[in-house]
Amino acid sequence: MRTYLVTGGAGFIGSNFVHYMFRKYGDEIRIINVDALTYAGNLANLKDFEGKENYTFVKADIRDKAAITKIFEENDIDRVVNFAAESHVDRSIANPEVFVETNVLGTLVMLNAAKQAWENEDGSFKEGKRFLHVSTDEVYGSLENPEDYFYETTPYDPHSPYSASKASSDFIVKAYVDTYHFPAFITNCSNNYGPYQFPEKLIPLIINNALSGKKLPVYGDGKNVRDWLYVDDHCKGIDMVLENGRLGEKYNIGGHNEKQNIEIIHIILDTLKEYLPDSDPRKANVSEDLITYVTDRKGHDRRYAIAPDKIKAELGWEPETCFAEGIKKTIKWYLENLDWMTNITSGDYQQYYEKMYKDR
Ligand code: NAD
Ligand code: TYD
Repeated sequence: MRTYLVTGGAGFIGSNFVHYMFRKYGDEIRIINVDALTYAGNLANLKDFEGKENYTFVKADIRDKAAITKIFEENDIDRVVNFAAESHVDRSIANPEVFVETNVLGTLVMLNAAKQAWENEDGSFKEGKRFLHVSTDEVYGSLENPEDYFYETTPYDPHSPYSASKASSDFIVKAYVDTYHFPAFITNCSNNYGPYQFPEKLIPLIINNALSGKKLPVYGDGKNVRDWLYVDDHCKGIDMVLENGRLGEKYNIGGHNEKQNIEIIHIILDTLKEYLPDSDPRKANVSEDLITYVTDRKGHDRRYAIAPDKIKAELGWEPETCFAEGIKKTIKWYLENLDWMTNITSGDYQQYYEKMYKDR
């Protein structure tokens, strides 16, 4: 039975990954989920697995060397998937320090603990052990020419404290590969969307605001482009790289689905109008009149676009969910899980929202 150590498994992509892996492998695998439960971590995302014999949750910080080493000492870990991170660009602009601490130093702690557990006396590594570091396309910077794409060979050019911290963590992983032949991969994925995404990110924020008749804040001219991928397709890519990727390589993951932010907002409004029955009082809230152009994000990257040629050619990865279908599934999920959203937005989120959007 393969044992996975998933960090940040209570967050958006991490929890979708746990769902994906148990759906795919059932009881053939064991998952240990290590998460510090910051504002972004939510055990409600994983309630289906509570009490499951082959699932364990450990509340620990990836910066905590002793706690992480203990997990490796007590378990024979075969795969590490490192999702744990501070992940929101706006928060990184307001408070960069924790991004470097978690994303860079936390990744270093994970690498060291895995190296210590997996290294043989002669400096080689135990058979079959693999570490996958989950990263982002934002490390490549911003594309100006509409014909350009991010390839694995595109030089790193991060702009925000978030993307700079992710780029730094990628370089640390690369250093372990180059120096020790440490068995790691890096994946750089485009923007994900789907169930369980925290409503600080564009898609769930717009869904939540539209349902409650709150303004829909559009940064700048609304024409910044992101390349959106349904979260399960990202999880599928991670699993494929872990099992069949070439050790030490990096793989870009993205589905050629570029959209301007304003287009995304219109699609969400149209889909909500389609899905909400006339008898639902929230339907009257959903309106284009809520769209409000606000001051742009500082250093706002104009366009991200991934070329997924390598993962397609080497591993046969293809996205399964097109945007038209994925956004419908996502909106349906939020409509069916209103308690999930209410629980999140009733706490500290109010203060966050006030601070980020007041006077903007
Ligand atoms: P998220 O913010 O939803 O979740 C992050 C999780 O990490 C949370 O559960 C949080 O509690 C946990 N965490 C934070 N600091 C920690 C620490 N010090 N120790 C242990 N746990 C900690 O993020 P996400 O959107 O799920 O992103 C997951 C990973 O994927 C990140 O590394 C991010 O850079 C990367 N990524 C995200 C996207 C995207 O569109 N969301 C795209 C590409 C790559
Ligand atoms: P976001 O979901 O924060 O992801 P990222 O910045 O990592 O790509 O933002 C996606 C895009 O939407 C980005 O161009 C910023 C923009 N945006 C808004 O216009 N309004 C908002 O309230 C938010 C959160 C984002």
